[in-house]
Amino acid sequence: MSCNNRSRTGEAGRADPFWNSVASFDLDEIFVLPGWISKLRGERSIPDRNVISQSIDSELKALKTRVGDCSGCRLSAERNSIVFGGGNPAAGIVIIGEGPGANEDKVGKPFVGRAGKLLDRILGAIDLDRTSVYITNIVKCRPPGNRTPSRDETAACLWILEEQIKIMNPGVILTLGAPASRTIIGSTDGIGKLRGSIHRYGEIPVIPTYHPAALLRTDALRRPVWEDMKMLKQLLRELGLPRTEQDQV
Ligand code: URA
Repeated sequence: MSCNNRSRTGEAGRADPFWNSVASFDLDEIFVLPGWISKLRGERSIPDRNVISQSIDSELKALKTRVGDCSGCRLSAERNSIVFGGGNPAAGIVIIGEGPGANEDKVGKPFVGRAGKLLDRILGAIDLDRTSVYITNIVKCRPPGNRTPSRDETAACLWILEEQIKIMNPGVILTLGAPASRTIIGSTDGIGKLRGSIHRYGEIPVIPTYHPAALLRTDALRRPVWEDMKMLKQLLRELGLPRTEQDQV
């Protein structure tokens, strides 16, 4: 079977070069995730869609107030915005990137530049968009020159991400790139080794994949990312996610 048309061409039916190199895959002949799904079902109760807490929004707002005009590390000196996160916090899917870039710093929203546009296309291929995921980063302020955040900057900011995850209690976390994946999984392995399997953050399944910025540089990463997206899609199906606006009370 070949990949269905919608996945490769997007909602508007336009040819999408992103998928040209991965056209032979099919979302319906996905992975077997041995033992995982039933284990998850048994171990973890995903909150009922009709009992989505409206308090998520107000708890996130309260957290944002606590963060205030944070000066917890040197990144605060040069930032224009604290990029807290964006999307649908009740959807059950949290995506974690590395840190804001210049565009994000300017507008205060995550993934609004080139990598963000590619992320939108990747998500679109498995029928997700910004209303069905919540996107944030391991550090909330732009590292100058878009360098990787240092260990102490990551450590200083981590409490915010931990609180966000605690409040949203997502059914699944997708981590983008090595810094986010290592931080969340608690590993020093490279992203090439971490991706391709499901890890955990507490009880929450974590799917690590390459950062879209890396895909912009290296075509060969498209195929493994697509494999990871199929795995995510399978997991979402099993968990009944995302929760959409209509599902919420
Ligand atoms: N890259 C990231 O990791 N995060 C953003 O918000 C934007 C680009």
